Amino acid sequence: MTIDIKGLTKHYKEIVVVDQLSLCIEKGEFFALLGQNAAGKTTTIKMLCGLLPPTDGDAMLDGESIVHHQVAAKKKINISPQETAVAPNLTVLENLLFMGQIYGCSKIEAKKRANAQMILFGLTPRQSSKAKTLSGGYMRRLSVAMAMMSNPKILFLDEPTLGMDVRARRDLWKILSQLKGEVTIVLTTHYLEEVEVLADRVGIMHRGKMRALGTIQQLMHETKKHSLEEVFLELTEEDSL
Ligand SMILES: Nc1ncnc2c1ncn2[C@@H]1O[C@H](COP(=O)(O)OP(=O)(O)OP(=O)(O)O)[C@@H](O)[C@H]1O
Ligand SMILES: [Mg+2]
Repeated sequence: MTIDIKGLTKHYKEIVVVDQLSLCIEKGEFFALLGQNAAGKTTTIKMLCGLLPPTDGDAMLDGESIVHHQVAAKKKINISPQETAVAPNLTVLENLLFMGQIYGCSKIEAKKRANAQMILFGLTPRQSSKAKTLSGGYMRRLSVAMAMMSNPKILFLDEPTLGMDVRARRDLWKILSQLKGEVTIVLTTHYLEEVEVLADRVGIMHRGKMRALGTIQQLMHETKKHSLEEVFLELTEEDSL
């Protein structure tokens, strides 16, 4: 198992944003974390990535605790955050090389990885463009490509397709499908079609708690619904708690 979350909790003063979350994600699994706005998805991902300290609980990332072995845990993962972390005045290639440097690659190795990522993400023709001149969709592609520069075992993608046009979104799905099985991926999105295409398993968060967990088929069966959208609406209904 690659991710083992136990009782992960985040409070802001008296407000509980993530509430005793426990969850296991297998090696190579593609896991979709769903939930309406403010459900606690980004907070969960930030805690798992070491960007935010948990109030309580812990998680093991490929055997390393995010509380007790933060540096080792961080080496296992990378993230394409909800607010993209692309440097606007650097070119596409420079952004990728910069990430390589941060992760301690030699120049030659960084160049090699950058070229491989640019090919995979269709960014080669834009390698000399400053990031600030990219469209939103290309910016997101670059953000995911940058996250892949560290060869992570676990990749967190927080709304990677936000604002992408239909084709760009499908292109990114194709790329993510290629990564499937090799990298453990945790994705958040509000586009349920993407979950249907990509995810092995789905978790639906509601008010900081995990409301449901399973394959889409299992969730439809349990709730007697005919689509993921119906399941989602049923489980996130305020009165249904
Ligand atoms: N620094 C903070 N201080 C206080 N409350 C916060 C802070 N950061 C986040 N929150 C609150 O935590 C809750 C969960 O936020 P989070 O960003 O995790 O939601 P989300 O599920 O990612 O939502 P979205 O789908 O809109 O991205 C929200 O109510 C938010 O206002
Ligand atoms: Mg979010």
